[in-house]
Amino acid sequence: MSSPSHGASAATVARYGEAMTAGNTLGTDTTGTTTTDAGATAAGALGSVRPAIRALAAYRPGKSAAQAEQEHGITEAIKLASNENPFAPIPAVVEAARRAAADANLYADHRATALRVALADWIGVDVDHVTVGCGSVGILQQLCLTFVDPGDPVVFPWLSFEAYPVYTRMMNGVAVKPPLIDHRFDMEAVGGAVDERTKLVLLATPNNPTGTAISTAQVEHLLANIPDSVIVLVDEAYREFNDPALGDPVHELLPRYRNLVVTRTFSKAYGLAGLRVGYAIADPAIITELDKILLAFAVNGAGQAAALAALESLDVIRPKIDAIVAERGRVAAALTDAGHDLPPSLGNFVYLPLGADTDTVYNHLERNGVVTRPFTGDGIRVTVGTEAQNDRFLTALDDAVSAL
Ligand SMILES: Cc1ncc(COP(=O)(O)O)c(C=O)c1O
Repeated sequence: MSSPSHGASAATVARYGEAMTAGNTLGTDTTGTTTTDAGATAAGALGSVRPAIRALAAYRPGKSAAQAEQEHGITEAIKLASNENPFAPIPAVVEAARRAAADANLYADHRATALRVALADWIGVDVDHVTVGCGSVGILQQLCLTFVDPGDPVVFPWLSFEAYPVYTRMMNGVAVKPPLIDHRFDMEAVGGAVDERTKLVLLATPNNPTGTAISTAQVEHLLANIPDSVIVLVDEAYREFNDPALGDPVHELLPRYRNLVVTRTFSKAYGLAGLRVGYAIADPAIITELDKILLAFAVNGAGQAAALAALESLDVIRPKIDAIVAERGRVAAALTDAGHDLPPSLGNFVYLPLGADTDTVYNHLERNGVVTRPFTGDGIRVTVGTEAQNDRFLTALDDAVSAL
């Protein structure tokens, strides 16, 4: 269905995908995460690669529809693997990006000043509380570079966003991973895992991949009981799909807890994943440090213009978000009716805890053209797509489960 970009053939894309997923298992870190030696042979011969990097596997993006089509000799595959927005950006946003692309011979504003001002205005904070980065994952990387020295503990409940252990290891930090209970964060265990040596606590809410969320009251309980030298990141990549009753950490907590950082993104609800625009709200003292290591011109001109246009078009975008939330409810209800026991998701995805059947069901779905994201031995994360895409997933899942 989707075609590979830049004119690359489907075969090239498929081979690239294989390379991305290759890697020999090396072992586990102190918290049980598998590490791999993906680049050892090639990189080992060239320079002295830091062991922390050498031990990392390449980032594995969700498999594309084109890769699945190539691998299985099928057509019309759909990708529900990366929590992308199924709706293309609205025309006003595309037009703003197109106009900015006409100036692509020039560097864009490194600080994305106009976007910072617009975000600050929209959120209701001073502009010195806002920074903009190359996706919210770019800001996460800046946070790790800013705060984590080798050996420093970084606490994050697990399962959670796969970038957390990667960036922790990149810094030679030590991942401390209190396990989820019933697919939810065990906030008492998170608090218990933090000590004065801890540099960062990473809390994705809603959590990827389980979809469960915590309230600002729970975050506050944590903040009130840990040293203020510990930076707490509340990663709200899926905020717009969340239950607003769970609160707003920016307004409820930031004025009182200067060690809080909140990240958000244009990738999910605003459908701009491909343009890489994320932002953080935090105390100016933290923003100043993060800005020092913002990659030069990290947010390109088209991304800045598109994000600004999105902020001006919220009345048009909001119904699309509502449609995704409604579809999430429909998919979850259908899965529950079919006998699945799934955690209540507040993101733009659902999580199916399939345990030992995970890989079998994932492979079956993929052979039938529905690409999802497997967490081997635990479950499958499925992005909420269009109504038609979701129906295809539900039918293929029925088929996969009957074949077990
Ligand atoms: C919890 C969480 N945080 C951050 C991100 C990164 O989003 P982006 O870098 O596109 O803003 C993701 C993407 O899937 C995510 O799931």
